[in-house]
Parts: sequence; C-alpha cells; structure tokens
Amino acid sequence: MMHSGRHFLQIPGPTNVPERILRAMDRQVIDHRGPEFAKLAKEVLEGVKKIFQTTGPVIIYPASGTGAWEAAIVNTLSPGDRVLLFETGHFSHLWCQLAKKFGIEVEYVPGSWRRGPNSAEVEARLQADVRHNFKAVMVVHNETSTGVTSGVAEIRRAMNRARHPALLLVDTISSLASIDYRHDEWEADVTVAGSQKGLMLPPGLSFNAVSEKALSANKNAKLPRSYWDWQEMLHANQAGFFPFTPATNLLFGLRESLSMLEEEGLSNVFRRHNRHAEATRAAVREWGLEIVCEDPREYSSSLTAVLVPQGHDADQLRRIILENFDMSLGAGLSKLAGKVFRIGHLGSFNDLMLAGTLSGVEMGLRLAGVPHQPGGVTAALQSLAPVGH
Ligand SMILES: Cc1ncc(COP(=O)(O)O)c(C=O)c1O
Repeated sequence: MMHSGRHFLQIPGPTNVPERILRAMDRQVIDHRGPEFAKLAKEVLEGVKKIFQTTGPVIIYPASGTGAWEAAIVNTLSPGDRVLLFETGHFSHLWCQLAKKFGIEVEYVPGSWRRGPNSAEVEARLQADVRHNFKAVMVVHNETSTGVTSGVAEIRRAMNRARHPALLLVDTISSLASIDYRHDEWEADVTVAGSQKGLMLPPGLSFNAVSEKALSANKNAKLPRSYWDWQEMLHANQAGFFPFTPATNLLFGLRESLSMLEEEGLSNVFRRHNRHAEATRAAVREWGLEIVCEDPREYSSSLTAVLVPQGHDADQLRRIILENFDMSLGAGLSKLAGKVFRIGHLGSFNDLMLAGTLSGVEMGLRLAGVPHQPGGVTAALQSLAPVGH
C-alpha cells in the first residue's frame, strides 16, 4: 500500500530524529584530528555529563548500546568474577549472556518480567555474601521489553545498607534523557546508554558514565580489552580526540541534542515523558487491556507494553496497523512474542503525536478484531487536557 504523509515511528527506540538534529548532521565530515573537531568533542564530552547528572567522565563510543554493555564489563571485571544480575526481561537476559561469554559467573536472580528487582532481595543477597565475592550488581533501569522501570536509588540504598563494595552497573539505554536518572546521587559506577532513544539521535553512539570507584576497579580488571579500553579513550579525550575514527557527524547531532535538552530543561523533559506515559495508560485502561508492568510505582515513562487478550496475535495487530496507518509499534520480544505490543512515547514527541499514535492503535484494535472497549483515545485526550483545566 502506498502511504502519503509521514511514517509514525512509535517503537521504543530508535526514536524520531528532530529536524534540528538532522540539519546539524547534514554537513561535510571534518578532520577528526584537527582543531574544529577537538572543540566539538570537548563540548559534547562536557555537555553530556549533565544528562547523566554526573561530574565524572563520560566515554562516547561509535557503537550501538551492546558495545557500551560490553565496555562496562571488560573495563571493570576479571575472568571468574561473580556478579548479581536481576532478570527484568529480554535485555537483562542479553546482558547476562554477554557477561557469561567473558567468563563472568552471573547469579541471575529470576524475575517475572512484570516487576523490577526487589531491593530487600538485593540487600539479603549481598548480606549473605560475607566474603564479598560479588564484584558487581547489574541492573537494567528501564526494561524496554516490558515497560518496567527499576528503582535504582533503592537498589543503591540496599547495597549501602549491606555495606557491600560491589560496583553498581546500570543500563539506561531506554531511560536516559527520558526518565529521571542520577549517576552521581545514586552512586552508580558505570552507566550505560545509547544515542537512539531519549537523546533523539540515530543509532550509532553509546556511552559509559564512569565513577571514581569504577576507574580504580579498571586498574585491576583483567578481562582483555582493546577497542573498549577506557584508559586509551580518556587519554585521547583530554585533548578532544579519540584513539580511532569517531562518529563525527553523530557528534554534531549530539551537540544539537544537548542544546535542545538544555533549552527544554531536563526536569521538563522528564515531566513531558511522565505526562505522555500517563495518558497512554489512561487509553489502555479504557480499552480494557492489560499493562505488562504490575506495579504503578514501576511504570515506565518511555514506553508502555500492552498484553493482547489470549487467542489474539499482537504481531498480526502490529501488521494491520503498519499496513493501514503506516505506524510501527514495538514487537513482543522472546517470551512475550505475539502476546505484547509496545508503544514508544519517548524522545522527540508531543501531545498530537501521542494522539495520532493512540488513534492508530485504537483503529488497529478494531480492524484486527481484538476485543476492547472504545474510548481509549478520548480518555488519553482527557488526561492531556483535563476539562476545567
Ligand atoms: C534496555 C536496553 N539495553 C540494551 C539494548 C541493546 O542496545 P543496542 O540494540 O543499541 O545494541 C537495548 C536496545 O533496545 C535496550 O533497550
């Protein structure tokens, strides 16, 4: 089917890239060993710290988020090290598999995919580890496969109550610049992020924000590393350079993204995401469908994962929506395949884009014959613009 107008990219990342960022990247590549590049690199390396709410170094890799996952592991751990990792969904599973490939012994704490880690359990497991065998606690802040946000601040408090010296490694790939996240205040040691979600950039950059403690762990970490080595990167970054060819034009895009986030104000960015998430949930409730996330305190503000009723196929629904309304929604991943669709409401996004997105879902539910109550879109509009407001 031929479509006119524009495609709706409502997967939970990559997200819509604003015109300003497209224009900022649409330029000749410059010499990555020259003074103009050094100025750009110093500016973005400094500016991006605010987004992580840190004053420490942030390393930028030309890589997808998986690269930054690997970097967090190989820079801090040694073969045979034990780590505690909480099962939150598809992405915690992938991070676990990655760690195991490096010979890390992962204690993978089972989870239902509908809740975040329980901080009391974090504390109990760390208390029991009297010899301090766990070298790291690893957690996905926003599980993109389920729309559940983990309480990282509570996990840190539990670690401190247990007086356990493990590092805290956090994946913020689908939360950074969308959901409040505080690297310094929450004493995260490595924060992993990517460019293609809240930062509104195309895929291709990923990040490690690094604490002092992580930098000292790095000195003794024995896993082999070359491309991902923090030390070579930090050394080159001091002068505004990279040890290899950087993703120059994405860095021009990042500079623009940082300006846009600064202009809006980070707290307003978080408020906007909360508001859109709340309106989305108002629609889902009105449709009579079930949200994957069970605990309202853990609702994700960057995406909502929705279960389709038994006997119905979420992938067929997504196909119908794509064919008829030119909108892409996120698929259910691994054990949620066919059972769940995911609505991305993060990045460069506004009320009317959300209204269009939810209209597409509601019309799709109708066409696909998925049982639901009408009125979800109206409920979302009421949430966005309450009568009497
Ligand atoms: C929470 C989370 N972690 C890790 C990844 C993997 O990142 P990438 O696909 O950019 O390698 C993703 C991708 O969507 C993600 O959402």
